[in-house]
Order: sequence, then C-alpha cells, then structure tokens
Amino acid sequence: MTDMSENIAELKTELTSIVEAANDLSSLEQAKITALGKKGKITGLMKTLGSMSAEERKMTGQALNELKNEIGALIGKQESALKRQVMDEKLATETIDVTLSTRPERQGHIHPISQTLEELITIFADMGFSVAEGSDIEDDWHNFTALNFPPGHPAREMQDTFFLPEDPDEKDEYAKKLLRTHTSSVQIRHMKENKPPIRMICFGRTYRSDYDMTHTPMFHQLEGLVIDEKTHMGHLKGCLRDFCEAYFEIDNLPMQFRPSFFPFVEPGAEVDIGCSREGGGLKIGAAKENGKSDWLEILGCGMVHPNVLKSCGIDPDVYQGFAFGMGVERIAMLKYGIPDLRTFFDSDTRWLDHYGFDPLGRPNRAFGG
Ligand code: PHE
Repeated sequence: MTDMSENIAELKTELTSIVEAANDLSSLEQAKITALGKKGKITGLMKTLGSMSAEERKMTGQALNELKNEIGALIGKQESALKRQVMDEKLATETIDVTLSTRPERQGHIHPISQTLEELITIFADMGFSVAEGSDIEDDWHNFTALNFPPGHPAREMQDTFFLPEDPDEKDEYAKKLLRTHTSSVQIRHMKENKPPIRMICFGRTYRSDYDMTHTPMFHQLEGLVIDEKTHMGHLKGCLRDFCEAYFEIDNLPMQFRPSFFPFVEPGAEVDIGCSREGGGLKIGAAKENGKSDWLEILGCGMVHPNVLKSCGIDPDVYQGFAFGMGVERIAMLKYGIPDLRTFFDSDTRWLDHYGFDPLGRPNRAFGG
C-alpha cells in the first residue's frame, strides 16, 4: 500500500467517525465542512494531485472521488436519521390531547310544542286513550261536511281555510282539497275505520288564515274522542277535569263548562279554567282577593252530534260519546308563561334556550318529576 492510499484509508476512518459522532444537525454541518468543505480534508488532498505522476494522480484521484462519494452518502444518511430524531422528539413532546373535552357549546333544547305534546300523550295514555293519525291535507268532506258543516253552512266561515288549487277534472265538490282547519277530521277517519268502543286522541298541525299575537297560520291541536254505548256528559266532565288537573298540576282547579256552539257536537261547551290576573301576571288556579276567579278559555268539547255518527256509519241510537279539542300552543303558553304565540315558529335559538327543555331533565308528571 502506498503512503497516499494509507493516508486515504486513515482519512476515511477519521471522517467516518466524525460524521457518526455528530449527534445533532449543527455538528453534522460542522463535520460536512471538515470533510467536504473548500478548506476541508478531502479538498486538501485533492490539491496535492497536481504534484503527482500521471499514474499516481489517476489512482489517487479515483480513490479520493470514491471517498468523497462515500462520505457524502454517509453524511446524507446521518442527516436523515438526525432529522427523523428531531421529528420524533417533537411528536413526543408536542402531542395534541384529543381527549380534552370540547369548549362549552350551545346545548340543544326540546321545543315547548314537543314537550307539551309528550305531556298530553302521557296523561291521556294513562286514561286508556290510544293515538290515531290523520294527514295535514284533508278534503272538504272530512274537514267539514261529515262534521255536520253542510256546504254553505255559516260555521264554515269561522275557519278561514287554505284551499289547495282545484283539480279541473274533479267533479265532486266534497273532494276539494284543503289544509285541515282542525284535528276533528281525524274523528271521522277513525270512526269510519274502527268500531266502538273508541277512546282515541290525535294531534298535529292545523291551518287557518290568521296572524296576530294569539294566532298563527299553522298551529297544533290535540283532539280526543270517546264513543261507547253509555258514555255521557258526566264522563266528559270527569275526563277533562282529570286532564286539566294533571296537566296544570293543580288539584281542585276551578273549572267551568260554558255552553258554546260547534256543529259537530250537541250540546257543545267551552272549558274555562280559573285564574287570577291580579298584579299584572297570570296565575292559573288562583282566585282573586274576593275569592272569585277570572276565567280563561282553554278548549272546546261536547257530545258527538248524531249526524256525525251517522256520517261514519255508527248508529246514534246505540252509541254516543264525547269529543274535545285544544290548541297545543295555547296550553303550552299558559303553563310555561310564553306571551306571544308567533315566537314559537320564529326559529330563534335564543328563544329556544329560554323556553325549551333540557332533554335529560324534564321535571314534570310525564317524566317522573
Ligand atoms: N275542532 C274545534 C276547534 O277547532 C274544537 C273542538 C273539538 C270542539 C272537539 C268540540 C269538540 O275549534
């Protein structure tokens, strides 16, 4: 082995150990300068090539180039190992704790309509009522005619109805489509499909062309129907008293049945509950200082008219019964102190945060409160 090739072998050992000893990127950079820099060791040896014989220069030049490549490759390897190490350290120290709980977010609430409906269903289910369904789009016959509102009857005018565009091929005027003005149409559908005894409630959206603080074009009703051989007005009164006391959670609630007219019942009545308006607020169940109540109307009811039973194929000489209907928003407003009906449908989440119900903690009779 010549001196030069010995030198090169030594240099290789030296540079290899310098590069391998570099344990961070800046000492590796330093090692790179020492090995390959302009004033580095390999360059230094390169400079001696000029003074060599042609033969020696060729061999040494080749050996130095190989050394340069080897050391260059080794530096590259070491560099990526160090970079990976830096990244691993970062990953170990800068982890994101994904188990951290989220920031306090807006919590969803149950809408007062859903809440109230669930309470109503629970109360009536306890009394043995089952739930029937109808559809929002009705025809004239189910919404009016079968309920003893013959065509041209002035009582039709009491309900400002949304009619659907007429079908020019439809000759039957009773088939005219409309948005149901009350849930009473479901009484008809139910009686046509079921034989007495009947004890059902139904509920859902109803529509009238009205808009002010206590009326919106769409609102909800809950309707009840009981048909049997001996059902009488006493049952009607007892059932509605039980219902009102359960719903308002007040025993001995003052109530009055005030005669009223609905074509599909006879006799018909409106139910008022006692309240006090003294001191500005409304207190349900309270009497005034003189012991008398103010009255608040909450629902319509009556004994099902024989003509209605007949339109459903039920013999009024054998069967009789009662029906009642109420506005769900109205009784929700009374129980939960909501002053303006229109706000129910504004979709304002601040309103829902205020008047809505916590899905997991609804303290009332229906949910074991
Ligand atoms: N359908 C009546 C209304 O919308 C309410 C009612 C139902 C009255 C059943 C009597 C019996 O005003």
